[in-house]
Amino acid sequence: MPLAIVVLAAGRGTRMVSSKPKVLHPIAGLPMLFHAMGTASELQPERRVVVAGFGAEQVSHALQDYAPDVEVAIQEEQLGTAHAADQARSALEDFDGDVIVLFGDTPFIRTETLKTMLDARRAKADVVVLGFEPDDPARYGRLVLADGRLQRIVEAKDASPQELQIGLCNSGVICASRKNLFDLISRIGCGNAAQEYYLTDIVEKANEAGLACSVVTCSEDETLGINSRAELARAEAIFQNRARQAAMAVGVTLVAPETVFFAPDTRLDRDVLVEPHVVFGPGVEVEQGAVVRAFSHLEGCQVGREAVIGPYARLRPGSSIGAGAKIGNFVETKNATLEAGAKVNHLSYLGDAHVGAAANIGAGTITCNYDGVLKHRTEVGAGAFIGSNSALVAPVSVGAGAIVAAGSVITREVPPEALALGRAEQDNKAGAAERLRQRQRARKTAAE
Ligand code: UD1
Ligand code: MG
Repeated sequence: MPLAIVVLAAGRGTRMVSSKPKVLHPIAGLPMLFHAMGTASELQPERRVVVAGFGAEQVSHALQDYAPDVEVAIQEEQLGTAHAADQARSALEDFDGDVIVLFGDTPFIRTETLKTMLDARRAKADVVVLGFEPDDPARYGRLVLADGRLQRIVEAKDASPQELQIGLCNSGVICASRKNLFDLISRIGCGNAAQEYYLTDIVEKANEAGLACSVVTCSEDETLGINSRAELARAEAIFQNRARQAAMAVGVTLVAPETVFFAPDTRLDRDVLVEPHVVFGPGVEVEQGAVVRAFSHLEGCQVGREAVIGPYARLRPGSSIGAGAKIGNFVETKNATLEAGAKVNHLSYLGDAHVGAAANIGAGTITCNYDGVLKHRTEVGAGAFIGSNSALVAPVSVGAGAIVAAGSVITREVPPEALALGRAEQDNKAGAAERLRQRQRARKTAAE
């Protein structure tokens, strides 16, 4: 039986106080909407529809890069969750199967939980609601059960004092067949405290139609909804804690786990050691036994076995660091490949570069890769030695085994095994220091 996912993401998110739609605010660098869609997508839905409204253009734009096959339905006016879900009706007109409706601001629901809902829907119920028991039910809709059966959902705003005592709450996730979902939505009105079309009313309508409703439950941390910057920060903390636990569980040492930050796709192999205060941006892979030392920032890069990065290193997108290579303090790399055993230990910038195996890049070496308009490549051969404070003006290459003298500005190809001196020759004038000092003192006296 095919599955479709509908993600409600039209709300303004007033409490975010932002000109950006709430669902595009990032958790671990990835919009919260994509977190929600990512878990649902593991169920391999045939169709995915996002209902956008506030900032719909920005949402569509973000989706184009992330998942171009996702359909976007527009909710012009935000008249409630049932009205929002209804906007997916025409997109799914020809779809025959089950639909899971999710919220774009509830990023942590696990795939297994959605799977349990889907199984319940197929085994025994027409409408399945995901419930949970929060520490503080506060503003959540309450699930009203009678004889163990779900009768209806009442929003906190509309609830009686007795109903407010109910601990079982609505997460917002609902599953029904496409046909039932949209037939029932058609019957929902807006006669409530908020004068909104509540998707939650689907339960009452289903019972009236003689359909069976059932509840699947999950833990509160899965259903965390984000409405404010404070909740966004809490979500980030939850995500990071899970990522840290997951890394340690596969054999990564985190010396101070609470100070290390991950992206959703960070991949660290076993026996990687991460010192305190390290940030992994998107697209990082670190192989077995590598060490990432304190205060380093990595994104879009690959680090080979036993390599040592940092402290205070910055690996930018397109960096590939070979096995056993060393990137030291205040070294930045961008679109640069360093082969096995290469060393760049201090204060360097390597951009658009290829550095051969076991080459040694001296302190303060800079690849001048950008001429103000175009980017150019630098090639350093295996075993080459670049003296400190050299500027390699790209496009340029230094052959294997060559030596570049410290302080050189290299603008032409250096052949393999050659010694290149690209600096002014030194000239020592005997006794000239004292003569110079006397001249300066005389000038100072004259000026006083
Ligand atoms: C909703 C549920 C409530 C549940 C809670 C869980 C309803 C009526 N209430 O309340 O039972 O306990 O979530 O967090 O469903 N949205 C639209 N268009 C709209 C309105 C909302 O797309 O017109 C989207 C929002 O962007 C958001 C989601 O639907 O992603 C939920 O809306 P929100 O206003 O946060 O609902 P709650 O009041 O939290
Ligand atoms: Mg909400």
